[in-house]
Amino acid sequence: MSVAGTRLPGKTALITGAARGIGRAFAQAYLREGAVVAIADIDAEAVRDTASEIGAIPIVMDVADQTSIDAGVAEAAMQMGGIDILINNAALFDLAPITDITRDSYDRLFSINVAGTLFTMQAVARHMIDTGRRGTIINMASQAGRRGEPLVAVYCATKAAVISLTQSAGLNLIAHGINVNAIAPGVVDGDHWDGVDAKFAAYENKPRGHKKREVGDAVPYGRMGRAEDLTGMAVFLATPEADYIVAQCFNVDGGNWMS
Ligand SMILES: NC(=O)c1ccc[n+]([C@@H]2O[C@H](COP(=O)([O-])OP(=O)(O)OC[C@H]3O[C@@H](n4cnc5c(N)ncnc54)[C@H](O)[C@@H]3O)[C@@H](O)[C@H]2O)c1
Repeated sequence: MSVAGTRLPGKTALITGAARGIGRAFAQAYLREGAVVAIADIDAEAVRDTASEIGAIPIVMDVADQTSIDAGVAEAAMQMGGIDILINNAALFDLAPITDITRDSYDRLFSINVAGTLFTMQAVARHMIDTGRRGTIINMASQAGRRGEPLVAVYCATKAAVISLTQSAGLNLIAHGINVNAIAPGVVDGDHWDGVDAKFAAYENKPRGHKKREVGDAVPYGRMGRAEDLTGMAVFLATPEADYIVAQCFNVDGGNWMS
């Protein structure tokens, strides 16, 4: 049993998409464990507000834009004196039956969820290698990456790609002492799922709140997840106790998926 504030002392972490939701909870957990944290988000106002509320460093960054990634990673490294931990958390959701998927939605989801993950990971890995530091990279996958869903083809495909990228990057970067792993949440309540619920309501012609109740009732644990349910795994993966864990994807989902 460790005492809060002792598990990540002096470590520096960059967390993308952390103005709200799971990323924000990760930032708060890391701060509690003694880390210095930079939170990056495309929503400039929200990231500044959240940073000042929780005591993190705000970085305005669009993970779909290479110039923005390079500038954001350089800024985080400069402000914190280097980056030991990256959590690739920013992502976008959309849904549509196959016959309605638009090229725009496909391009946007792949550029944020997949290219954003890959090229932020690349920028931070280069920094870790250049500065001779061992590091931790955690990519946010999803149960959606474990199997397809009738209305969620593109988002599911992006999360399957995140799991695959985690495996390849994990195998490649461990040669430099950089551990890459992923977390696959199930259904986590919050702004993200409010948006998902609204989209399902429109497509399935059901009242708002119906889908959330349905998915929550189906979780073996007995309820939807909360962002805080994921923080234990995110802290653990960044500690030396996880050093021998390489290129894995961990389900933290109340029992929804087994692999
Ligand atoms: N909530 C869930 O049920 C659930 C389930 C499985 C996986 N996940 C994954 O967990 C992660 C966090 O989910 P969440 O529920 O907190 O989502 P969220 O939608 O609440 O938060 C995502 C954040 O990413 C930011 N963002 C969006 N596009 C960006 C961009 N181009 N550049 C930088 N930031 C950008 C948003 O502004 C927002 O603050 C995501 O990768 C998501 O796919 C969530």
